Amino acid sequence: MGFGCVGQGLYDILQQLPGFGAEVRRIAVKNPTKTRSLPADRFEYHADALLDDPELDVLVEVIDDAAEAFRLVKAALQQGRRVVTANKAMLARHLPELVQLQDEFGGTLLYEAAVCGSIPILRTLDAHFGSEPLRSVSGILNGSSNYVLTRMTQEGTDYAAALAEAQLLGFAETDPTLDMAAFDPRSKAVILAAHAYGLFLKPEQVLHLGIEGITPTDIAYAKAQGLKIKVVATLEQLPDGRVTALVAPTFVAESSPLYTVEHEFNGVILEAAFAGTQFLRGRGAGGHPTGSAVLADLAALRQKRAYTYTKLRQPAAAFTTDLAVEIYLRSPSESIREDLALTDISLEGTGPDGYFAVGFTTLARLLKQREKLREAGALVVRTGPISALQEARHSAQEALAQ
Ligand SMILES: NC(=O)c1ccc[n+]([C@@H]2O[C@H](COP(=O)([O-])OP(=O)(O)OC[C@H]3O[C@@H](n4cnc5c(N)ncnc54)[C@H](OP(=O)(O)O)[C@@H]3O)[C@@H](O)[C@H]2O)c1
Repeated sequence: MGFGCVGQGLYDILQQLPGFGAEVRRIAVKNPTKTRSLPADRFEYHADALLDDPELDVLVEVIDDAAEAFRLVKAALQQGRRVVTANKAMLARHLPELVQLQDEFGGTLLYEAAVCGSIPILRTLDAHFGSEPLRSVSGILNGSSNYVLTRMTQEGTDYAAALAEAQLLGFAETDPTLDMAAFDPRSKAVILAAHAYGLFLKPEQVLHLGIEGITPTDIAYAKAQGLKIKVVATLEQLPDGRVTALVAPTFVAESSPLYTVEHEFNGVILEAAFAGTQFLRGRGAGGHPTGSAVLADLAALRQKRAYTYTKLRQPAAAFTTDLAVEIYLRSPSESIREDLALTDISLEGTGPDGYFAVGFTTLARLLKQREKLREAGALVVRTGPISALQEARHSAQEALAQ
């Protein structure tokens, strides 16, 4: 189902690997007038017809419509079918129900391609770290925004030009909001939370700050300190057992493996209780890299493998956004400072792109003011090492002040 970037990528891979022994029996697409790379008689226009065909032993759902994808995947799982999907937006909204449908009807759903394209992060978390506690999972999960940041940092390109370039190269969506406002990496963080911490989060619970407000001044500010700005998704377990998750632009130092993850590449750092730190890096998008992840899922299905969801079967950790975080704020208007109740300000001023400050706020406040920040064209960047969430600093200070 779907013969766009991912569907064509998978088809091409299967053509190149006749030894794999998979036959693409039927292909459903949407638009009957579109020019195709295969003869017209290879296509049909009602995905439901594939659901009705019991001879298809796997359904691959790679359409670009999350609501329709959910309807199709749900129906397939209700038949106890084996399904592979790449649709992170759909998974982030409906994972609890999709897991329950697998339990109830005995079908299997795999979705490695949905998070970081070719990087086998879900399989790694599920199969390898299913029993080991993780201190954190953090990384660059969106290739399009990373491409824009790389071009701005390396070539001094401004945001609009870098984005146009990413779109021309096919790295960014026609509507760039999903990537640039960090909706896409938020979906991936929600999926990661289920596999890394056994937590079903709603997308709205996860702070997602993007780079739509970024200017060359911000890049220059980072550069002057030997840092780069990267959009980093962070899932972290605090020493008290609570778990937090956020996606935000972050200053990344040369000592971090994320520093050299450039252009459309993705990278994920795992900090495991006993294994220590591991780093996975690879192509996060594109027909072949994403098709490669779908191929791996097809091979896994053949071996009767499914996600174990080990951590979901254990008592869930508490989720929190009640945490203090130090940020760099730059905004055309200074009033945002009040909205964020910035404290402990260590730097403040006004420059060509408006007001700037470095100070502390809370994740909960950023979550509440996110839309306002976006409307104001503000940029928020986490400062310091990516694991340095400063727990409850504000509550402690407030308690002392009373
Ligand atoms: N592109 C990537 O690098 C990438 C990476 C990871 C995950 N993903 C995910 O993979 C999925 C597909 O992405 P894509 O980039 O391949 O999208 P795409 O290039 O826009 O292709 C989407 C395909 O879905 C078909 N389609 C849409 N609605 C349909 C329906 N109701 N019934 C049957 N076919 C339908 C379209 O048909 P027409 O051809 O007739 O328009 C098209 O062939 C998305 O969920 C995306 O988030 C993509």
